[in-house]
Amino acid sequence: MKSALITGINGQDGSYLAELLLEKEYKVYGLLRRKSVVDYGNAEHLVDKIEFIYGDMTDYVSLAKAMKISQADEVYNLAAQSFVATSWEQPIATTQIDALGVTNLLEAIRIIKPEAKFYQASTSEMFGLVQEIPQSESTPFYPRSPYGVAKLYGHWITKNYRESFDVFACSGILFNHESERRGKEFVTRKITDAVARIKLGVQDVLELGNMSAKRDWGHSKDYVKAMWLMLQQEKADDYVVASGDTHEVREFVKLAFEAADIQMEFTGEGINEIGIDKKTGKTLVKVNPKFFRPAEVELLLGDPAKAEQILGWKREISFKELVGRMVQNDIKLVGKELSNI
Ligand code: NAP
Ligand code: GDD
Repeated sequence: MKSALITGINGQDGSYLAELLLEKEYKVYGLLRRKSVVDYGNAEHLVDKIEFIYGDMTDYVSLAKAMKISQADEVYNLAAQSFVATSWEQPIATTQIDALGVTNLLEAIRIIKPEAKFYQASTSEMFGLVQEIPQSESTPFYPRSPYGVAKLYGHWITKNYRESFDVFACSGILFNHESERRGKEFVTRKITDAVARIKLGVQDVLELGNMSAKRDWGHSKDYVKAMWLMLQQEKADDYVVASGDTHEVREFVKLAFEAADIQMEFTGEGINEIGIDKKTGKTLVKVNPKFFRPAEVELLLGDPAKAEQILGWKREISFKELVGRMVQNDIKLVGKELSNI
């Protein structure tokens, strides 16, 4: 039986990856931060199947202990302060977790079990102010946020441990991936949650920032398969994982309302742009500059050719299906919340 250690176990990707590895009969260990109230988050339904180990990416000792206990054959580093907007408010914490945290874990591997295979959750945010369209493994990086800068360090230290110490270390440069388990501060889930509340009559308006930003969105369930595939190859390497399509935030909003049978259209420009209900004329969407970022990533579009050719990976859930699944799930969740009041 193979064993795996997943950091960020209670996050979006951690929970889907744990499900995938359990299906493949791995013994799964999950690194969990100690909080005042125990919270398994997205891994709540897996508590009987996973062995949790308390630890923190900023604490080398806890990571060394996690490696000692788990003796993991495969280590997936998904833990991060992952919300780009917060990285300007907490740049030092973001750096300690997303940059130095990777070195802490790589050191724990090198010292306790150097033959363990390592996956680093790198990100399309490293492309930032994009130098090439679409972005591939050879596109130069230009991060635009403290998060992107910290992740770039994590990316290079992973490569460095591969080249310096021969650790089987891979980076997956994953483009945005969402799901029914996405945190509610990220734009997709913020939209689908608001659409559900508007549909059920408990919210009037959805306020957003830059709706012209374009993202290459896929479903997390598809993307965790690529993580696993990377660690099953003969040679450690880095891969872009993306859908190969890009959409404006505005398009996501429109599709989400459509999925809830609300016909909405945009009118006006800049901060005066609004989305109105075609039937009633009511304003459903507004711009609030509070959600603008100090530096924006305007366009992300990935080229997944290498992952498709070498890993045999292909995304299965389309953009339209992703939006539909998230909206239907939020309508169900908000409905349940209301019936409990
Ligand atoms: P997520 O839902 O925000 O999960 C992040 C996880 O990291 C949570 O389990 C969180 O635990 C944990 N964590 C945060 N700080 C920690 C610390 N100091 N020590 C230990 N654990 C800590 O993120 P996700 O969407 O699943 O993303 C997974 C990884 O992929 C992240 O590294 C993210 O940066 C990267 N990534 C994501 C995307 C995407 O579109 N989703 C794209 C590219 C790369 P708590 O509950 O304790 O906070
Ligand atoms: N969150 C948020 N809230 N974003 C908004 C809003 C809003 O009200 N209005 C517009 N946006 C825009 C943001 O400015 C950004 O351009 C885009 O929507 C997507 O924002 P997020 O959903 O917060 O994701 P992100 O692209 O910044 O970061 C995500 O993807 C990265 C991969 O490219 C995160 O998952 C990162 O952890 C990940 O690395």
